Order: sequence, then structure tokens, then C-alpha cells
Amino acid sequence: MREKEKAIGLLDSGLGGLSVFRELKKQLPLEQVIYFGDTAHAPYGEKSDEEILSYVISIIDFLLEQEVKLIIMACNTATAVALDKIKKRYSIPIIGVIQPGAQEAVNKTKNKRIGIIGTEVTIRNKSYEKIIKNIDPSITTYSNACSNQVIREMEEQSLSNENKIKLLLKECIKPLIKSGIDTLIWGCSHYPFLRKYMEEEIGHNTVLVDPAQATVKEARQWLVQNDLNNDIAINKEDIFYISGNPDLFARIAQKLLGYSPGKFLKPFNYNY
Ligand code: DGL
Repeated sequence: MREKEKAIGLLDSGLGGLSVFRELKKQLPLEQVIYFGDTAHAPYGEKSDEEILSYVISIIDFLLEQEVKLIIMACNTATAVALDKIKKRYSIPIIGVIQPGAQEAVNKTKNKRIGIIGTEVTIRNKSYEKIIKNIDPSITTYSNACSNQVIREMEEQSLSNENKIKLLLKECIKPLIKSGIDTLIWGCSHYPFLRKYMEEEIGHNTVLVDPAQATVKEARQWLVQNDLNNDIAINKEDIFYISGNPDLFARIAQKLLGYSPGKFLKPFNYNY
């Protein structure tokens, strides 16, 4: 197989990576995607750093066996904990969502007050804050962890308890809006799909940053610079390897995207 025709690997703790997948299909429609959703271990937001790192290593080893040409870590929590360590371990290029998302928020803010919502692990690691401060020390950041229950409602209950999700998100966002932020980073890949539950709280004056857009832009630039962007239609189906229940994932994915994006399989030879 020509290098250019190899797939892009995408990993997430579960469904959230579909927000990055959706963006990949917009910006790089000719690329095949091999997606790994680690639903057997989600939510990552309630796991230790050591556990998350070991899950990510197993997933990357699995994706390398599928001969992908680039890996995108769509999961903020995995990026916060594992990206730096993983980059030292592997030679394949790996792009995380936090640096591109932070840069995008810095470009967008006018009043230099940026809010960040994410899992407890992401917020505890302060990855967004550190990068933002590094780019512009005069920016103030306000962050809050949203309940892991939000992720469970999405992964396990197919978003059926709408009022509960709304309430949990309200609790998480309200203090940030009160702080006078003009920009809010969705620091969890699942949140872009929950937009309608947040809108009332956020209002029209806050710019929402979905790191997926800037992340895929970075991936596109890397592929073009290295002459690895696929430029012919190869019509290969996208594949979703799901460590938990592939049928459940397929059903919710269809609901979130509005179409069935590919085939859903249990990963083989996968060590977890
Ligand atoms: N998808 C993960 C993220 O972007 C979080 C969800 C989880 O806790 O598993 O941070």
C-alpha cells in the first residue's frame, strides 16, 4: 500500500472522538480513519494517570499494527496525561487536541479571560492553562471539571436523561460565565455533542472553542508538508474498533452524527 493511502488512527475513551472524526471528514474527506473507542475503560476522567497511560500505550500498539500513518489523540484526558510520554516512546507522529485548542482560544479571546471545562483529570493536570500562559502570560484562565456522570449518561444511557445532563453542565459552566470569560474551551471531546444542553447557560456573548477544528487543521498541514495526504478517492470504509460494546457504540454514533459512519468491530489481539 502507498504511504499516502494508509489510514489516520484516531483514539478516544469512547464516543467523544466522533467530534474529531466529524471534523476529519470535513477537512480531509479522502482519508480513511481507523478509530479506537476505549469504552471498556471509559470514563477516563475517573481513572489514575498510570491507568490512562497504560490504556493509551495498548491502543497505540494496536493502531500501529493497523499500519496507520499518523495518530490523533482526540481525547483531552489522554492528551493531558500521556501525550508527552507517548511522543518519546514512538516514532510515528502523534497529535493531541490540547495545544491546538489552547492556541485557538488565545486567538479568539478579546478580554483575555478564557474558561476551560473538562474531566477532573484534564483540569487537575492544568495542561490548557500551562499552554495558554506560555503563549500569553497576560491571559487569565478559569477552569472547572464537569461530573464524570455526564460521560456516563452519553456512553451508557444514550443521552436519554436530558434534564440530568443539562443540570450537570449548568453546575459546571455557571461559575465560569460569572467570572466574565468571553471564550470557553470544550476541553473534553464529548462536549461538542452536548451543545444544545449548554446554550441557555452560555448565551450569545461567549465564543465556544471546539479543539477538533484546530487539531484536524494541524493534522492536514502535517500531511501536506510531508506529502502524505491522500489525494485520490480510495473508497475504503472507516473502521471503528470498540473495546466495550460495538453495537451500542454504533447506535449512539448514528444518533450523534446522523448517519452510520463505517463498520464497528471488537479489537483483536488487543491486550486489555
Ligand atoms: N473523551 C475524554 C476527553 O476528551 C473524556 C471522557 C472520559 O472521561 O472518558 O477528555
